[in-house]
Amino acid sequence: MKFIAFVSAKGGTGRTTLAANLGVILARAGHRVLALDCDPQNALGTHLGIPPGLRLGIAEGSSPDEIIEYLTAQRGEVPCIPFGTRDRDDLQQAESTLLADSGWLMRRVLDVVPSGTELVLVDTPAGERVWTEHVLEMANVIVGVHLPDAACFATLPVMAAMLERQCRGRELKPAVWHVLNQMEPRSKLARDTEFLMRRHLGERLVPCPVPRDPVVGEAWAQQLPVALHSPTTGAVAALRELSEHLLTPLVDLQRHTAKVCR
Ligand SMILES: Nc1ncnc2c1ncn2[C@@H]1O[C@H](COP(=O)(O)OP(=O)(O)OP(=O)(O)O)[C@@H](O)[C@H]1O
Ligand SMILES: [Mg+2]
Repeated sequence: MKFIAFVSAKGGTGRTTLAANLGVILARAGHRVLALDCDPQNALGTHLGIPPGLRLGIAEGSSPDEIIEYLTAQRGEVPCIPFGTRDRDDLQQAESTLLADSGWLMRRVLDVVPSGTELVLVDTPAGERVWTEHVLEMANVIVGVHLPDAACFATLPVMAAMLERQCRGRELKPAVWHVLNQMEPRSKLARDTEFLMRRHLGERLVPCPVPRDPVVGEAWAQQLPVALHSPTTGAVAALRELSEHLLTPLVDLQRHTAKVCR
């Protein structure tokens, strides 16, 4: 089982949209995928047909049996574990648990994720929050999601420092990719920002930015992944290309693990 985490220093970049839709694309390509929401906004499931406001979820409060039963009953292409709607006191309690016990989230995930799951796509809150830190510790692939604007460019050093801290001391380093989302090729500002980000990030910035595409929002309003709502739209073509990039380091990782085991 491999974890792909979607992170960003700024909010609203498209982490949730990308996690849900890449999940669907990877599932359709034959992978056994699960979507896991580690963002208290609890929005990931709403892309995958789960009604907003569900209380059941990965955060403390639901038993492993309840979560497993809920996953078994789901009929969507990508099973999803929501975060679970929580009030402020519950959230503070959950964060204290995470701070006190660094293995809590991994144990919780292993208790509920069905055996045979290949890829777990994990949504996280924006910025350096305790949930993000714990997800990054588990991640095999980290995807930084950015908008092509000055605000996102300005947060690259914050993001780099966060990832550097997380990767320090790990024997098997996670692969790190960066993605530009909501790219507008006709905008000079967007093209200039892409140029500067590529100079800064080099090959870690994947060559297939996801275009700004109004269908993405329309699909979400209908609680459908855009990959099912409009499979031929430009954003979905870019996401397909992106899914292949994300898998490359995992194939290398499997080869490396097989070599070590031989
Ligand atoms: N490629 C795209 N084209 C057009 N709209 C997009 C695209 N990607 C995301 N959006 C829209 O941008 C908004 C933010 O997307 P999303 O919620 O996925 O970002 P996020 O990083 O998860 O935000 P938050 O920080 O609030 O969790 C949504 O309204 C979504 O529909
Ligand atoms: Mg989100």
